[in-house]
This record gives sequence, C-alpha cells and structure tokens, in this order.
Amino acid sequence: MPNPIIVALDVSAERATNLVEELAPAVGAFKIGSTLFTSAGPEFVRKVRATGASVFLDLKFHDIPNTVAGAVASATALDVQMITIHTCGGTEMMKAAEETAQKTARELKRPAPLVLGVTVLTSMDDRSLRETGVAKNAEEQVIYLAELAGKAGLRGLVCSPLEVTKLRTIIPKHMQLVTPGIRLGNAKADDQKRTLSPKEAIVAGANWLVIGRPIYGASNPKEAAESILRTLS
Ligand code: C5P
Repeated sequence: MPNPIIVALDVSAERATNLVEELAPAVGAFKIGSTLFTSAGPEFVRKVRATGASVFLDLKFHDIPNTVAGAVASATALDVQMITIHTCGGTEMMKAAEETAQKTARELKRPAPLVLGVTVLTSMDDRSLRETGVAKNAEEQVIYLAELAGKAGLRGLVCSPLEVTKLRTIIPKHMQLVTPGIRLGNAKADDQKRTLSPKEAIVAGANWLVIGRPIYGASNPKEAAESILRTLS
C-alpha cells in the first residue's frame, strides 16, 4: 500500500515550506487548498513538487465545463497528482474535467492527476441544502452525486469518514476515496464533528487520509506522521 497520509497545509507559506521539507519522506502527499494557493500560488506548488513530494491541489473547481477544463489543464501542467471539482457542477462539467486531465497528461507524457469529486460539503446540513433548492437530505444527496460522479467517469471522491462504508457499497470498486476528518483516539477533535481514526477509515475503505492539525499542530510533526503510519500496519 502506498503511504496514504496527505498532510493538509492549512498554514502560512513560510510554515508550509518548512513542513514540506521536514515531512516529505514520511507522508504520501501534501494538500494545498485555496487559502495557501491564493497567497503563494503556482510557484509554491512547483516548490513542493521539486522536493519529489506529490501534491493534492484542493481548489474545488465549479464553473462552466469549458472553464473547469481550462483550470484542470493548468493544474495538470503544474504536475499535481490530485485535483478536486464539485460534482454538483453536473455530468458535462465532470466529463470535461476528467477528459481534459487525461488528454493534457497524455500530451505531457505523464500520469493523469486523479480528479476527485466533492459531493456535499460537510458544512451543509439538510436545512442548508433545502435553502439552496435541494429537496434531498444530505445523506441522499451525497449518494446521488457520488453515483453521478461514477457515471461521469470520475476515478475518485472526497467524502467524510462516516460516508466511506456506505459509498463503498454503491460506487464502482476502482473509485478512490479520500477522507478528511481523521483523528487519533484520544486527540482533540478541533472543529471536526464526525471523525474516524486512521485505521478505522482505511478499514472502512478509504484510500487516502487528509490530516492537518493532528500532524502540523503536533510538537514533532514528523514523529506524529510516523506514529500515525505505524497504526496502519
Ligand atoms: O486539521 P484537519 O485534520 O481537521 O484538516 C482537515 C482538512 O481537510 C482541512 O484542509 C479541511 O479544509 C479539509 N476538509 C475537511 N472536511 C471536508 C472537506 C475538507 O476537513 N468535508
């Protein structure tokens, strides 16, 4: 099994640079989200890639198919290994993203990045979905969008740890699941309300674990990452 730990770099560019240097040998990838990307940009992505570490560019693209395809082409040219898009952008948008990732990667002679679909943000509940005109409850909507993503040809999804077991029963086997909301047994949950331990998430069927504060907030981040990895063997 490849190292499934993806460290969320929800920190300043300066701290992120130090963390990447320290953690690159101990983890599978680094997640760069919109906060860090908006301040440090493609240059920071190149810096991480130059260490040999993989990058999960979590910008959750959601736009018309042509624009999302353009963003996916740019991300593929940046040589990132994972990208997120919103599944509620629809089938045409998801297909455009996946096809562009494959086509651009072929042209550049490198593996296509994994285009991951985001279903329902975990900050949304039944009420906030209704407010935006969605009649299904959150659980139904997650399942509906996950199936749609599979039919559109996406090869992976981001989901909450508590959705992994259910999703594994409905999505094609080859689809990869990436889950945040990971906490060690006795660690504080911060603002995460629904968590699983790393081992529980992997046993449930997750392929990748996005872990932020339990690693970068530890007094020794490298030791924290290594001890999480040990719990998985
Ligand atoms: O620090 P922590 O381990 O909670 O970080 C989790 C990471 O996963 C953060 O970057 C957060 O934005 C992201 N995330 C999440 N829940 C989601 C989607 C993404 O916690 N539903």
